[in-house]
Formats: sequence, structure tokens, C-alpha cells
Amino acid sequence: MIDELKKEIEEVRQSFLNEIAQIQSPDKLAALKERYLSRKKGAVSQFLLRLREFPPREKPAAGQLINQLKATIETELAGREASIGTASGPEAPWSDPSLPASDLPVGRFHLIADIQRQIEDLFLNLGYEIAVGPEVELEDYNFTKLNIPEFHPARDEQDTFFLDGFDDMVLRTHTSPMQVRYMLAHRPPLKIISPGKAFRKDDPDATHSPCFHQVEGLLVDRGINFSHLKGTLELFLRSFFGSGLNLRFRPGYFPFTEPSAEVDISCFMCSPAGTSGAGAASGPNPDCRVCKGSGWLEILGSGMVHPQVLLNCGIDPETYSGFAFGVGIERLAMIKFGVPDLRLLYENDLRLLGQFG
Ligand code: DAH
Repeated sequence: MIDELKKEIEEVRQSFLNEIAQIQSPDKLAALKERYLSRKKGAVSQFLLRLREFPPREKPAAGQLINQLKATIETELAGREASIGTASGPEAPWSDPSLPASDLPVGRFHLIADIQRQIEDLFLNLGYEIAVGPEVELEDYNFTKLNIPEFHPARDEQDTFFLDGFDDMVLRTHTSPMQVRYMLAHRPPLKIISPGKAFRKDDPDATHSPCFHQVEGLLVDRGINFSHLKGTLELFLRSFFGSGLNLRFRPGYFPFTEPSAEVDISCFMCSPAGTSGAGAASGPNPDCRVCKGSGWLEILGSGMVHPQVLLNCGIDPETYSGFAFGVGIERLAMIKFGVPDLRLLYENDLRLLGQFG
């Protein structure tokens, strides 16, 4: 039985070789391939079908013969395809096996993760620790201990997701509750940053998303004052956006800091290094699409930790003081890379994400 198979295979092999030698067009080559290799009706499959008729002891040898035939056919087809192209036509890539292999696509961090890591690296170098808190948070930590009592208007400003069946829990509306967690569990000196997700009941639009990312900073020690906050934020923002940057501290209001400051950076687009900011000699460009002509970009909230917050966390405000800040990662991404719509950051379109790095 096996001898008969051998003979037949040899005949098929010969006729295949004769045929392929005469083929000049990719279409004909494709048809030939179909005839010999198609899974249903191809010559090789027909042989394989017959395998089951063989007695067990002959099966391995028979299988080997068929596989040899298949290998010959495949090699010949590949060689011929390389010289005359495939049926997909003249655009079919010409291939030269001696050329270096084409680049493999290499992944990279998502822009948000990338920025978070940059900030982490910077603060790790300044001796800060990274403390990560839960996204489902006690209402007490998210609001009350941060000096935002019930019925305080600030609770409305941060429209909150409450959890069905858990009266005292919320999806945290900011990363600030990690200040509370950390102060309750550690004694000063404290130096942390806390990156992570925050959630608010916002309808998605170009600048809002119900889920977004923040980095919180907190430093508590003896004798900490506003100049420490200012120096730290200057270092952070200059290393992130460029050393020529100017900062502007505007009075602001946050219940958990006193005094509070909103921080603006000079527009890196239209206010060149050294002369930056509104009021600089040359002035901002009134048509600037980044700062809309004001020369300044609002970047983060900050302040000196409110004595009541220290007390709420068991730290004596007579002995210790501290500063805190909170910055939105999406905002940093949009400003630094000119991403016009926040939603682009969540669509995971590699054409967008691949542009940064
Ligand atoms: N938690 C504030 C927010 O989400 C941001 C913030 C402001 C954080 C001032 C702070 C701070 O630590 O001191 O809007």
C-alpha cells in the first residue's frame, strides 16, 4: 500500500514541478496553489484523507511522504511567488531575503501613564514617597476631614458618585483624601505624592470626563511655609514644561488649605523664556491658541494645609505645618502636547498616542 502511495506522490510531485516551471503570471500561480494546497480539495489534502485507510504501522511513513510533498510544493510556490509576485498584483511587495528585517512595532506608555511617571520620577528624586489610595473612598476622608462639612457648597461643586447601599462611601472626587489617609497613618515629617483616578458626575466634553487623573502632593514638617510650596512648584513645573517658565500664584479658595493659591504658568507658546507671562516687555500674542491671548495658563491648585485638617488627622498645627497641591494629569497632557480634546486621550487610537514619546 505504501509503495503505491509513494508512486502516486511522485507522479503528483512531477506534474506539479512541470506545471510550476511554465507559470509566468501571479494569477496562474494562485490557481496552481489552490489546486495543490487548498484545504478542502487540494491534492495534498486528498492524500491526507487517505491516511486513515493505512494500517497503523504504515501510517507514520505514509504521513512523512505526504508531508515531504507538501514541503516541496510550499517551497517551490514561495520561490516562484518571490520572482513573479502574488495574485494581489504588481504592488505585491518585492522581497529580498538579504535585506534587514522590517522594524517590529514597539509599545509605549499611554500619554497619561507617561506623564504620571515623569511626575513620579521628579518627586522621587526630591525624596518624596509615592502613596496610592483607594478609588472608593470614605465620604469622611473625601470631604469631612478635609474641612468640607456636609452642606458646604464645595460638596456641590464636586458632583459626587455615591454608592448604592453604602451611605458613607463615594468614588473619590479628587486625590486629596489620600492626604488624610497618610496623615492618619504616619507622623511628620511627611513627603508624599499620590497619583490616581478621580471621579465626578460630569458629562464628557472637550475638557471634562467623569473619570480623570490627578497627582496630589503633601509635605508636612516643622517650619514649612509658603516659600517651600513656591520653590517646589517652580521646580516641578519648570522641569516639566521648560526652564524659562514663569509662575503666577493667584489667591484661590480650597477648604483644606489656607491660604490657597491657584497657580498659572506663563504660556510656553507665545511668551518666550525670560520674558514670559502677561506684562512681559513684548507681551503675549493676542491670537495665541494655547493661552487665548492672556499669556497665562491655569495649571493647578495648592496651599498651606489648613490647621483644622492637621487637627482632624491628629497632627498638632502648633508644631507642624505643611503644603499641598493637586494637579490634573489630563490638563498637563493637553497643555504640553496640544491635545485639543480630552476624549482623544481615552479612545486609544494609536495614531494619536503614537505621536508623543
Ligand atoms: N483637590 C482639588 C481639586 O480637585 C485640587 C487641590 C487644590 C489639591 C489645592 C490640593 C490643594 O492639595 O492644596 O480641585
